[in-house]
Amino acid sequence: MNYDVTVIGSGPGGYVAAIRCAQLGFKTAIIEKYNTLGGTCLNVGCIPSKALLDSSEHFYQAAHDFEAHGISVGSLKVDLAKMIDRKNDVVNQNVSGISYLMKKNKIDVHHGHASFVDANTISIAKGDGKTEEVKTDKVIIATGSKPIVPEAFNYDKKRVITSTEALNITKVPKRMVVIGGGVIGLELGSVYARLGTEVEVVEFLDRIIATMDKDCSKELMRSLKKLGMKFHLGHKVNTVTPSAKGVKVEVQKRDSDETFTLAADYCLVAIGRRPYTDGLGLGKAGVQMDEKGRILVDEHLQTNVPGIYAIGDVVRGAMLAHKAEEEGVFVAETMAGQKPHIDYNLIPGVVYTWPEVAGVGKTEDQLKEEGVPFKVGKFPYKALGRARASGDVDGMAKILAHKDTDEILGVHIVGARAADMIAEAVALMEFRASAEDCARMSHAHPTFTEAIKEAALAATDNRPIHL
Ligand code: FAD
Ligand code: NAI
Repeated sequence: MNYDVTVIGSGPGGYVAAIRCAQLGFKTAIIEKYNTLGGTCLNVGCIPSKALLDSSEHFYQAAHDFEAHGISVGSLKVDLAKMIDRKNDVVNQNVSGISYLMKKNKIDVHHGHASFVDANTISIAKGDGKTEEVKTDKVIIATGSKPIVPEAFNYDKKRVITSTEALNITKVPKRMVVIGGGVIGLELGSVYARLGTEVEVVEFLDRIIATMDKDCSKELMRSLKKLGMKFHLGHKVNTVTPSAKGVKVEVQKRDSDETFTLAADYCLVAIGRRPYTDGLGLGKAGVQMDEKGRILVDEHLQTNVPGIYAIGDVVRGAMLAHKAEEEGVFVAETMAGQKPHIDYNLIPGVVYTWPEVAGVGKTEDQLKEEGVPFKVGKFPYKALGRARASGDVDGMAKILAHKDTDEILGVHIVGARAADMIAEAVALMEFRASAEDCARMSHAHPTFTEAIKEAALAATDNRPIHL
């Protein structure tokens, strides 16, 4: 088996890279160790978590919000096992879609664990114990990431769980402790909080979603507290002890010796993910890693070995599906002699809680640190006609623009539909629009996007219309 390009890993980085390689005329193979394609994102990440977020939000709205709309539904019941079945159906539709795309693009799919024999030879250990080898001119490593779980947390996959197991609980738990107030902890924590679980989040830092703009952390925290979630900010977990029926979590105040214990049915560990290169035999190909275990790449996403590239969660940068996809296309086009470009500053970040949070570009803190003069325009959702009509009044849109040139430097939104609305901000910033450019664009009424226009008016020269 001889290929121009062999891609290792079929997540959003790998499968998109393979499709673009095939489009560009390369004879392409993809190797995936699991039976289904799509990687973390489709199997145990983006897609299943969003399916459960949508289902649980329907339940929560029926239980809490329908009445205000004049709809009574009587007594409500959650069939979590059925919710999980639906989630599995959604996953299956998506992963079979990727198999279809591989066939359509004439990409050879090999299932089995890939490891380098040398820079141009890859061995595939198949499930039936057999081994195959492929010869390849170039390689794209897209092996993704796995959850970080310290030994002291006694990860047993039953009571001490990561996102993977949290997507398959079939009975609504009474109590859940979540370690980490980042994206996974808050998305999956809110799934269970909506279904009635008492959720307590232990976060080491002084705010949740600490990589996003400070105002977003504050707004989201307020909404999640309304949902009933409890937070221990500035705390860390020392140990987690599972038993047959539950867990005991020893928590310590970050800046003192004071400790206390939380008891729960489950402890969800969501403290970040590590690049995954286990058993890949990088040493045999001579590929180097950095001090954080990520594959070291240059500005072309090429490793120190010519012809071997790496993309997605296994290299530096945000661990996001759309970042991995952009890098997949970038590498394929680079190999074809094109000159692609990725602006990493314009990769949006989204948290799919309700309200949603979305941001792109610089945060207020980053601009301060960099000494960039800026002005701020904010607009609250509660002043939007559309938000009042739907009852989604929590949230705000915020635009940061350069003080002298008015160029938009960052957009941060908390509120209904923020995940979809951030695309406008990305487009504006890709074309280096000013806040005034945005303020002069017609935004359909009544929509949530009017919050962006109003924030732009506020940033331009403090002239929002509806505030
Ligand atoms: P992965 O998707 O991890 O794929 C890597 C693939 O490589 C895997 O299938 C693995 O089995 C395979 N592999 C590894 N080693 C080998 C080997 N030696 N041989 C063969 N195959 C191998 N991101 C978003 O942008 N939006 C979201 O809403 C979102 N939600 C998420 C929710 C959860 C619960 C989690 C855990 C993650 C979420 N992410 C989200 C992050 C997103 O899933 C990752 O950023 C993305 O999947 C990374 O893509 P990748 O191609 O680099 O790697
Ligand atoms: P994260 O990096 O988003 O959050 C981890 C949090 O845990 C941080 O706030 C950190 O301060 C805290 N923490 C670390 N160690 C701790 C300790 N010992 N005790 C208490 N708190 C501790 O990581 P998370 O949530 O695990 O997600 C991993 C990756 O998956 C993220 O980088 C994200 O990019 C991706 N993802 C993206 C989603 C999206 O785009 N909507 C959804 C889910 C995951």
